Amino acid sequence: MKADLNLVNLKVHTGERLVEAGISVQDGKIISVAKPPNLPEADETIDCGGLLAIPGPIDVHVHLRDMELSYKEDFYTGTCAAACGGFTTVLDMPNTKPLTDSPERLVEKMERARRMVIVNVGFYAIPPLDEKAVRELASKGAVAFKVNLCRQWTEWDTDSQENLVEAFRMVSDTGRPVAVHAEEGAMVREAEDRLRSSGRSGVLDYVDAHPERAEFRAVRRVIQASINSGVRLHVCHVSTAWALEAVSKAKRFGVPVSCEVTPHHLFLTSRDLEKLGVKAVTDPPLRTDVDVEALWRGLRTGLVDVVASDHAPHAEWEKTGSVWEVSPGVPGLETTLPLMLDAVNRGLVDLDVVVRALCVRPAEVFGLRGKGRIQPGFDADVVLVDMDRWWKVDPTEFHSKAKYSPFEGWRLMGFPVKTIVNGVVVAEEREVVAEPGSGRVVVGGG
Ligand code: DOR
Ligand code: ZN
Ligand code: ZN
Repeated sequence: MKADLNLVNLKVHTGERLVEAGISVQDGKIISVAKPPNLPEADETIDCGGLLAIPGPIDVHVHLRDMELSYKEDFYTGTCAAACGGFTTVLDMPNTKPLTDSPERLVEKMERARRMVIVNVGFYAIPPLDEKAVRELASKGAVAFKVNLCRQWTEWDTDSQENLVEAFRMVSDTGRPVAVHAEEGAMVREAEDRLRSSGRSGVLDYVDAHPERAEFRAVRRVIQASINSGVRLHVCHVSTAWALEAVSKAKRFGVPVSCEVTPHHLFLTSRDLEKLGVKAVTDPPLRTDVDVEALWRGLRTGLVDVVASDHAPHAEWEKTGSVWEVSPGVPGLETTLPLMLDAVNRGLVDLDVVVRALCVRPAEVFGLRGKGRIQPGFDADVVLVDMDRWWKVDPTEFHSKAKYSPFEGWRLMGFPVKTIVNGVVVAEEREVVAEPGSGRVVVGGG
């Protein structure tokens, strides 16, 4: 049997352990991981010069936008940012314009994406309170469902626990997970109104408008709804020590819950927000040292399942002005992997943990069959990284349309050199080398 491509002279993190080996690829799949004498012959061989190969990282929290929000980002620019930042698969959020809240909308999005993406993309859907529509969204390929308790995206009232349990039960029947932005909308609205009407408008007032207890209460409420409905629950961007403790307790009780943290909540605090100004406003906002320490501890111990960027691009003009009018969110696709590799180099976290949180667990939590490991039979999604190479964050060089970053000017050691998607090199040296349409639309349920 002849392979299409052999990658040789590599250290390979398989998802479980580090080995010195080569990788053989055929028809977009890994067919062998072995020392060169034991690899099959191949049409093409790439000498990787001792680089580290990791399973293609999966970013489970990305706002690719497109359609009427294409001025912020589109499927092509967003997936170029992913490829150059070292992600081979991304999961796209449904708060687009139009919303991804019906089977027709989902199918439209999938068809558009197929022609434009250069990495693999899966889609979230917003669950309507309609059993048939939820079932159909899953059968058409929604990888997961998403509910936002803070800024409601659904037609039904997310403040109602009864609605929440009913929606979760419908999702549970599909076998797909439900991901939640867990901040109590009523508490955030009340705090925001109070601060605004008393004339407060600093960036730290934005933090006060998103009280830590609003996240804690929301997390407890969705855990209760998961218990009542049986749904697999994924808590997005946990930002506080309290909320993480609630997830920990639920896990100990056997509730099927997973959670993610973002790099901005790991590397920055509200003190940085004061320096960075409104550009660094995100939902949830940056928190305290105590919270940051808890997130790192949770990541190291495996309590935190996933690191995801929450890549939330906005136009320049939407990121200036009053703190109450500015659009929350920062782009993260091009900084997340370098930040995590730099953390490995600085001894903050082990490589095993980073591979688990960016590759192995995302595939497991979202049922992405054939992804997350470098093993025979798995998809040939591989990223080659140079752990000894410096890179300075320069947002003007981003492939994303959002050319700003709270990490601007940071010098990071650890650089994604080559991004391989389904056996094809799509980005090299942070430049795109593939045509639109070389990525695939992935569906969940594996
Ligand atoms: O910072 C955020 N940006 N948080 C969200 O929940 C939404 C997101 C966006 O869509 O811009
Ligand atoms: Zn969110
Ligand atoms: Zn988000």
